[in-house]
Parts: sequence; C-alpha cells; structure tokens
Amino acid sequence: MYKLALVGFGVVGQGFCELLSSKKNFLKKNFNLDYRVVAISDSQKGSVFSREGIDLSKALEWVKGGRSLDEFPGDENGWDALTTIERSGADILFEATWTDIRTGEPGLSHIRKALEKGMHVVTTNKGPIALFGNQLQRDAEEKGLFLRFEGTVMSGTPLLNLIRECLAGCQIQEIRGIVNGTTNFILTQMFEGKSYAEALKTAQELGYAEAVPDADVLGWDALAKACILANTVFGAQIKPDPDKLPCQGIDKVSLKDIEQAKSEGMVIKLIARVFIENGEVRVKVSPERIPLSDPLSGIKGAKNALTIKTDALDEITITGYGAGKTPTGFAMLVDFLDIHKKLSRRGNE
Ligand code: HSE
Repeated sequence: MYKLALVGFGVVGQGFCELLSSKKNFLKKNFNLDYRVVAISDSQKGSVFSREGIDLSKALEWVKGGRSLDEFPGDENGWDALTTIERSGADILFEATWTDIRTGEPGLSHIRKALEKGMHVVTTNKGPIALFGNQLQRDAEEKGLFLRFEGTVMSGTPLLNLIRECLAGCQIQEIRGIVNGTTNFILTQMFEGKSYAEALKTAQELGYAEAVPDADVLGWDALAKACILANTVFGAQIKPDPDKLPCQGIDKVSLKDIEQAKSEGMVIKLIARVFIENGEVRVKVSPERIPLSDPLSGIKGAKNALTIKTDALDEITITGYGAGKTPTGFAMLVDFLDIHKKLSRRGNE
C-alpha cells in the first residue's frame, strides 16, 4: 500500500485525484496497486494530512464548494508544501504546482526535498524538468529512486514513454510538432473566424492556458517542452531561455495571415523543433505555414502532435491531448503505474 502526497491541487492535481478515486478498484484488480493519499497541500486551497488516508471524493467536493483544506478533517492542517514533503512520510510525491521556466521554482525545491527524503517523484511541472531534468534524474537514480514526468510534454499522450520504451533501439534524428494546446486552440478558432481575445478567453476557461497566458502565446511553454525533449531524448543541456533561443509565439499572427495561408491551401501552426545542426542539438519555436499534406496540419483545438524522425522507422506521428484536467491527471496515473511496475519487479512495492 503506497502512501502518496500531493503538492498542488489545481486543475491537474484534481484531475489526478478524480482518476485515482474512480479507478481504485480497477487499479487493485488489474495491477495489484493499492494506495492511500496521506497529504494534499496547495498554496491557495489549503492543506490536510491524514495518516489513515484522505477521502478523495470528499476532498474534491470540499474544494469545489470553495472550502479550504485547512478545515478538512484530518490529523494536521495548514502545512505548506515543504513541510508536507518533510513530514508526511509518503513514498511518492506528486508535484503539480505552477511552472516557472526561468527558475523552476517552486517545483524544483519540492522535487529536491522529496528526493532528499527518499521519495519517488512524479511531476507535470515543466520548469524544473526543462532546467534541471538531467541532474534531477541522476540524483534520483543515485538513490535508487524514480523520477517520472510524462505529463510535461503532451500531457497523458504517451510521448516520453513511447520514446523511452518503444523506440529505445532507434536513433532519434528530429522531433517537430505542436506541443502547446492553448495556442493550437487559439489558431484553430481563428482559422474558423473567431477573434484572438475570444479564443484565448475560452482556452483559459477550459483550463488549457498557463496561469499567466504569456507563457503560452509567446511560445515559452513550447520552448520549455522542446528543451525537455532536447535534454532527455538527445542528451543536450539547453536551458529554456526565450531571450537566447529562437522563440517566437503567436501574438503577431493576425486573422489576415491565417486567411492568406488558407487561400493558399496552408494552415499556420506553432511548431516546436528539436534537431541537429553541425553536430549540435538545437531547438526552435515559431509559427510555420504547414501544407495540408502534412499530418500536423489537421491537428485541431487543444490537441498536440509530434512527428519523430528515426533511423529505423522513418517518421512516426503521435497525436492526442496535450493539456487539460483528465489528460494531464492521467499522465500522473501512468507514471505512478510505471513506478509501481518497476518496484514490483524489484520486489519492494
Ligand atoms: N498551457 C499548456 C498548453 C498546458 O496549453 O499546452 C500543458 O502543458
């Protein structure tokens, strides 16, 4: 029986808890996986620790009703994230706080503290992984711990796992595609004639956009994801600095540009690329005109898609949701399952 702690109880954290709760019997029956969530901590929604385990359905209802977890029945309340990691005694930390791609904080400190305490870590937080993913991975491995972050790129659509497991014997030559749901949603709506402001508002309401949507529309979020791919798949060490790397968002794309592209049988998409140039790994984010013959041209709404160019299999394109409550919550669930399977093989579940 795993003891889980959750730091960040926003859209993603709640999505994960909904899945954990609704699939409890399924997980037990099919994977012999059992858990109890002993702590939830959120800087806005309060926190609760319970040795016996928190009733997730009740906690979800509580928060939806606008009540603070600081008043939720349990053994302790009011712990901040670091205290929760320090004192909860959990086996696995699920980190779903907000992303800051310049510092990686606060997620970085949460992950470091959890590894220090001997906890496995699952995160959807792009900042710490884009900036320090390789180092954190090494820190985890040195301690025999697992660090998983499937949700950082394409949410629950199995991109990183696909590359790590199924494409393990391939050399990856280039990865390019659509990795930001908000901007793809906005561009799709604009293609259908809606205004930029109207489309952005809907993306925010649907929970796709970052807390500060500049990170989406200026291309920073896509850049962070490109760096995660560059560093974890290509072994590079590129920091997602939008001032130093080629990074252009969709803020300058007008309805006129979209109409023009349309009349020429093209669509405009925000494309992130990871490629090799003169032996160096490079990343680039910019709006590109894509012909309708390209599989990326048909990717609509908040969906993402990446084309992976390999030596043995040529091009593989994977598409699916790249943002949203359930898809990103699912990424945490699949990482949990992966850790469970690996620990079971080691015989120390
Ligand atoms: N804001 C991000 C997006 C969320 O729109 O894709 C998922 O990383």
